[in-house]
Amino acid sequence: MRPTIAHFPQARSRRLRRTPALRSLVRENALSVSDLIWPVFIREGDDVSEPVDSMPGVNRISVDHAVRAAERAAHLGIGVMALFPYTDPAHKTHDCVEAWNHDNLVNRATRAIKAEVPEMAIMLDVALDPYNSEGHDGLVVNGIVQNDETLIALERQALVQAENGADILGPSDMMDGRIGFIRHALEANEFQSTAIMSYSAKYASAFYGPFRDAVGSVGALSGDKKTYQMDNANSDEALREVARDISEGADMVMIKPGMPYLDICQRVKAEFGVPTYAYQVSGEYAMLSAAHENGWLDRNQSVMESLLAFKRAGCDGILTYFAPLAAELILAQR
Ligand code: PBG
Repeated sequence: MRPTIAHFPQARSRRLRRTPALRSLVRENALSVSDLIWPVFIREGDDVSEPVDSMPGVNRISVDHAVRAAERAAHLGIGVMALFPYTDPAHKTHDCVEAWNHDNLVNRATRAIKAEVPEMAIMLDVALDPYNSEGHDGLVVNGIVQNDETLIALERQALVQAENGADILGPSDMMDGRIGFIRHALEANEFQSTAIMSYSAKYASAFYGPFRDAVGSVGALSGDKKTYQMDNANSDEALREVARDISEGADMVMIKPGMPYLDICQRVKAEFGVPTYAYQVSGEYAMLSAAHENGWLDRNQSVMESLLAFKRAGCDGILTYFAPLAAELILAQR
């Protein structure tokens, strides 16, 4: 739609910028607490909270703390938490069996949170990297990440996660065909209600560095993930990935990372109109936090501005480590 343009002095943009009431009257986008998904790192132990060096303010927390965190999140109005495990290196193997262990960290954390904060929706990553001695998202044979063998492993992982009460599965592995495989397995096993948010357009990005530190996969990873994650230069390809994932049964799609890929968010939402999310990843958190710690950026304002950008680009929601802070700021505006 082409806006009608009047000229100065009939038009003066500043008339509607003069007061807070006028500015809010014409504001086009808003961020709500219900748009936020909070990613949290879980570790073994009791009453443990251990800082992640590259993500100031983010901790790896034991399951008991995760339940407290869920209570706090629910109190703030955050409806979804995404849980990621910091797996003991002793549980990382070539065949990744810990991924479908009924009692692995994220499954135990899901059960514990559901028992005490049943209204909290839990999202779990479907990917092998936290459990893989090679650090890759798929099974590795002779140095090659195997696609079709990995699908079978992902299916087992997804079914166990659904069984443990996960509301949303987030396949983040970028193997071809995974959404169809997982959807078929869920339908065949009476998990018709389990939702899938596909990491559809997931780029091979330098911005995941601090996450790999947080989940302890950085030491394990040999090489990079460029044979399965997307090339940074591509945009049309993201639309094809999203189209395939929708046709294979994804309920929601995600673009990742976030801020450097807002153009992709906008294209995906405009083209498909499906529930679309962005992941403001660990490196984006680290980048902003480093500037905050140095006093170079105003923390609250830069966080809210960065999150509003996703709404403007068309996203329905955002996975962000800033979720509790953003929720507090939104509530304080009232
Ligand atoms: C792994 C996974 C990654 C993230 C979410 N799931 C990292 C990767 O692909 O290496 C990144 C999240 C972040 O950086 O905040 N399947």
